[in-house]
Amino acid sequence: MRSTLKPSSREAIALALHQCRTGTLKLFQGIDWDTFCRQAHPEFSPAGWHLGHIAYTEDLWLLQRCAGFPPTFPEYHQLFAADRLPKKDRVFLPTFSEVCYYLDTVRKQVLNYLETAPIEEQERLWRFIIQHESQHCETIAFVLLVGQISGQPKIVKPAFPLPSNQKPIASEMIAIPGGEFIMGNDDINALDNERNSHNCSVENYSIDRYPVTCYQYRQFIKSGGYQNPKYWSKLGWNWLQSNSVNQPLYWSDNPTFDNHPVCGVSWYEAEAYCQFVGQRLPTEAEWEKAASWSTTTMTKNIYPWGEETPTSHRCNHDNNIGKTTPVDTFPEGKSAYNCWDMLGNVWEWTASWFDGYKGFESYPYRGYSQTYFDGEHRVLKGGSWATRPWALRSSFRNWYYPEVRQIIAGFRCAK
Ligand code: AVJ
Ligand code: FE
Repeated sequence: MRSTLKPSSREAIALALHQCRTGTLKLFQGIDWDTFCRQAHPEFSPAGWHLGHIAYTEDLWLLQRCAGFPPTFPEYHQLFAADRLPKKDRVFLPTFSEVCYYLDTVRKQVLNYLETAPIEEQERLWRFIIQHESQHCETIAFVLLVGQISGQPKIVKPAFPLPSNQKPIASEMIAIPGGEFIMGNDDINALDNERNSHNCSVENYSIDRYPVTCYQYRQFIKSGGYQNPKYWSKLGWNWLQSNSVNQPLYWSDNPTFDNHPVCGVSWYEAEAYCQFVGQRLPTEAEWEKAASWSTTTMTKNIYPWGEETPTSHRCNHDNNIGKTTPVDTFPEGKSAYNCWDMLGNVWEWTASWFDGYKGFESYPYRGYSQTYFDGEHRVLKGGSWATRPWALRSSFRNWYYPEVRQIIAGFRCAK
């Protein structure tokens, strides 16, 4: 039976699918064959693999599972499924045009199906698919970045003169009173790991107004932070010894970047910097309260600034700029507690392990979140300059192993 039509959500979904795809393909403009297929880092699949996997996932969930169609191009399944081939074997790819043909073939059928699909029952899944593509876009953006920097020799640059009109932003902390707030999110876009929203209580704490800047982080480097075990946890020091790292992955000594957030640090480096300044990483709850709670209305905002969807005036996201920006660029993006740059620019490591909230239920499959509730992944919040708007909100949870540095991540401190 054809369900009662709600044209608004059908049209909204079609528009989001289209806009999301436009941004995805933009990442591949002018890409050469080697860049398309190359594994920039053993932990990550090639950019071109992610593109095929986007088509595969859309086909699997919308056309096969919902519409009951047979697989589109079954010969691609082994390659583009999430859990079939080891990452190193994902370099043998069809050409960019062949993958585009796969995407288009799936998408044509999807749009056709969307016209009569029972959206009331399926909206959560459609929203998931848009967010799935959004997240792979971000991975594409940073694997391309890792590919670029890995080709460059590390140049030891002489000290730059400081641009005369630029002053380092002073570090400043915001005191946040303890007490209850609402953590998580139940709306239609909320992923399994954001549900259910629940009351959460935190103690009094202070949190940085801005993410830690390159200027601040340079003090740690210059003080021999990478050589001094007193700042590092045991696991962090072990990690450092086996990786011989002495600066963030995306580091530049150019003072032009002094007020940009530090970017390309592992969780261990973030932890060590916090020790260096006598502070600690915020818990996920502390971060989320600072980003989303409004004490005047005692309600939770979806975004730090309220309910209005992200724009280029609120935060640095969606590859609008393609790199970090100074942490004080977006006054219109601040939270009710006056924390800046909570969404976009860089992801922020938190002290929290990734785990399910009470009553957690996997959706749409166990391997989306639950597989990672293993006490080995740390939560990151806030999104980066490469995060698509559909994956940007204060309740969104990202997770990685603490040693990962390729993601576009920095942090802020708490105490
Ligand atoms: C949430 C970004 C860690 O890329 O591994 C994509 C998202 N899950 N397809 C990932 C995801 C399935 C996930 N992260
Ligand atoms: Fe995926």
